[in-house]
Amino acid sequence: MLDEEGVRRRDWIHIAALSAGGVAAIGAIYPLVSQMAPSADVLAASTTDVDLASLEPGMAIKDSFRSQPLFVRRLTPEEIAEAEAVDVSGLRDPQSLAERTKEGRAEYLVTLGVCTHLGCVPLGAASGEEKGEFGGYFCPCHGSHYDTAGRIRKGPAPTNLVVPEYEFTSDTTIRVG
Ligand code: FES
Repeated sequence: MLDEEGVRRRDWIHIAALSAGGVAAIGAIYPLVSQMAPSADVLAASTTDVDLASLEPGMAIKDSFRSQPLFVRRLTPEEIAEAEAVDVSGLRDPQSLAERTKEGRAEYLVTLGVCTHLGCVPLGAASGEEKGEFGGYFCPCHGSHYDTAGRIRKGPAPTNLVVPEYEFTSDTTIRVG
């Protein structure tokens, strides 16, 4: 039979043992968690830097982002005006050009080069390629036409070309991802 003092001592021993166990468990888990965190080179590989210095109005650059085609297009003033003149409420995937570009940089349209129907790579980013009925991109797989803001205008694609996360890191460079 334990007296009150004995009970207190026994409880203290249990608490100390549990605490030590908890600390040991955290110590064992931490290396595992820290190993699972992406390393700096993996994080760098998940972004794509694109140099826009040589991109003239009316031209596009094809690149890749996380193993997917990436289109960066510099719109002409006419293409911007064409995109802005569209009544957004009548679009299948209603978005204005301003919503799809950065403030003050409406001439740079950055999208994935992946048709939102079944994933073909649309035409229109390379010079001489067909741009479709709305002057943007054309997916010949099943006939999806995108306009100069990369918005779906005709054909089976359900949504606009995806605008990935990106930022301008200088006047002529963007970082995607
Ligand atoms: S994959 Fe582009 S229209 Fe079908």
